[in-house]
Amino acid sequence: MPGWWNGRHSALKMLCPKGVPVRLRPRVPNIYEICMNDELIKKASEKFLTRLEKHKDDPWNLAVHIREAEKWAGKVLEKYPEADKDVVMLSVWLHDIGHYPIQEIDHAVILEQIAREFFSIEKVNKELADKVLHCVRSHRNRDVTPATFEAKLFAMIDSVSHFTYIPYIEMAQQGRALDALSKLERDYRDVAPFPEVLKEIKPLYLALKNLLIELQKFDFEVWKIK
Ligand SMILES: [Fe+2]
Repeated sequence: MPGWWNGRHSALKMLCPKGVPVRLRPRVPNIYEICMNDELIKKASEKFLTRLEKHKDDPWNLAVHIREAEKWAGKVLEKYPEADKDVVMLSVWLHDIGHYPIQEIDHAVILEQIAREFFSIEKVNKELADKVLHCVRSHRNRDVTPATFEAKLFAMIDSVSHFTYIPYIEMAQQGRALDALSKLERDYRDVAPFPEVLKEIKPLYLALKNLLIELQKFDFEVWKIK
């Protein structure tokens, strides 16, 4: 196991909100052991964590989200061993690096610039850099459609990771249960090309959908303080 694993998770522990348990050991077989560019992935993780720490506030709950995405990446890469693991794991650490400071521009556009600079500084070969840049730029499956197997896989990993923590519930709590339902459907759509994962996640999808439909009934304001 690479020595940097525990240190990195200590950093995540500090960043996680109070009460959110953080496991200090991998919950999946250590995917990093079989990556060719372990040191580069380590630098990408440090870059992400440094930016997160600098921003101090974490309104997108990225400290938790990235941990979930990392967990799902490890799980999914076991199911699809033909995928380029380095591309996927670099995408885990770079795909949300453009969120903070919050700006009007889509974070996928900002993160592409940050990732490009990172690859240039680290003198990463163009083929690997281009593969990751496409994954991170297309991970939202909106203005840029994932075109490679790894990009489709990563868009799915990012989406399915939302199923195993509380982003939908948080949205409903903020009076946005309908938005949460739309997001749940978009995320489920990204899983559709991968039937094995789809089958596994379907009961959770249906449970979350029912929960959000019920929560929507309580989506009312009692009063407004002006
Ligand atoms: Fe993400």
